[in-house]
Amino acid sequence: MTRIVDTRVEPELALELATETLARGEPVAIPTETVYGLAADATNPEAVGRIYEMKGRPRFNPLICHMADLAMAERHAIFDPLSRRLAEAVWPGPLTLVLPVRPDSSIHPLARAGLDTVGIRVPTGFASRLLAAYGRPLAAPSANTSGRISPTAAAHVAADLGGKLELVLDGGAAGIGLESTILKVEDGEIRMLRPGGLDIADAERIAGQKVLRPETAGAAIEAPGMLASHYAPRAGVRLMAKDVRPGEALIRFGGKPLPGEEQAAIVLDLSPSGNLREAAANLFGYMQKADASGATAIAFAPVPMDGLGEAINDRLQRAAAPRE
Ligand code: TXA
Ligand code: MG
Repeated sequence: MTRIVDTRVEPELALELATETLARGEPVAIPTETVYGLAADATNPEAVGRIYEMKGRPRFNPLICHMADLAMAERHAIFDPLSRRLAEAVWPGPLTLVLPVRPDSSIHPLARAGLDTVGIRVPTGFASRLLAAYGRPLAAPSANTSGRISPTAAAHVAADLGGKLELVLDGGAAGIGLESTILKVEDGEIRMLRPGGLDIADAERIAGQKVLRPETAGAAIEAPGMLASHYAPRAGVRLMAKDVRPGEALIRFGGKPLPGEEQAAIVLDLSPSGNLREAAANLFGYMQKADASGATAIAFAPVPMDGLGEAINDRLQRAAAPRE
């Protein structure tokens, strides 16, 4: 049986159960401001292995290690000045930094997929309280079966992984709704490894320099797996829709109706006022809703590329990628 504890109603009970479960090497689903995470003790290889098992992830990818604060992060990774400036400005928040791991870090190599770098993030809210109480880093990918839509609510987690998980902490809807932006500083340059909840323009303002996208960084596709089908709803996905076809659900943007939407299985608008932050927060939840409508396919109207639109379009591309 999966126990669901609301962190807003019973924070002490949530802390006690979560720390006890994590200490036994069992993963716990936790709320973060980006998406819900499937968290396990990053220093315990069996616990990290349980994450892969629960997600049904075929390969060992490096996982993001979550820290209570910058001081804890500095005990596990070596910060260059630019990374520190980004961390100080954004943390706690939707930024993951890839940094050289300290030789004496207790993070298990399995959590880093054997790399000599580690992806680190300090989340906000209850997750940071839990990290402070637990005192050790938590490795946490999104709390969904591999390839499926990332959960932005505890109910999504319970519906997907419920049978396998002992404990789900419910902290309400994820405020940002997209995974963190991943940046890596190398030779004084900042490279974006994944667009996400931190607007790149904000990162550039903080750093006082450009962030290099994969194209401009000269790296073709760093990890081929990055392009594979991901965030996939059960229904098919059709992007850049200009109309709605019979049997489709519609997810549109900016309050603009599309021809044929009267016959759509469901019509959802990511942000009727055209606000990209609101659209990001609604994206995964609306994909779940459209999927549940029984539609054969989900038609997405175009979403602009500026601000968080870059990360939204990245997730849409992956949702539409050919399935294996
Ligand atoms: O918002 C988020 O980041 C969510 C929440 C739960 O915090 N977490 C998340 O974690 O998305 P995860 O494990 O799915 O992200 C893993 C990705 C890898 O696919 C890889 O792209 C990158 O993080 N990553 C982690 N460590 C890395 C490393 N050492 N070098 C390069 N990339 C790394
Ligand atoms: Mg994921």
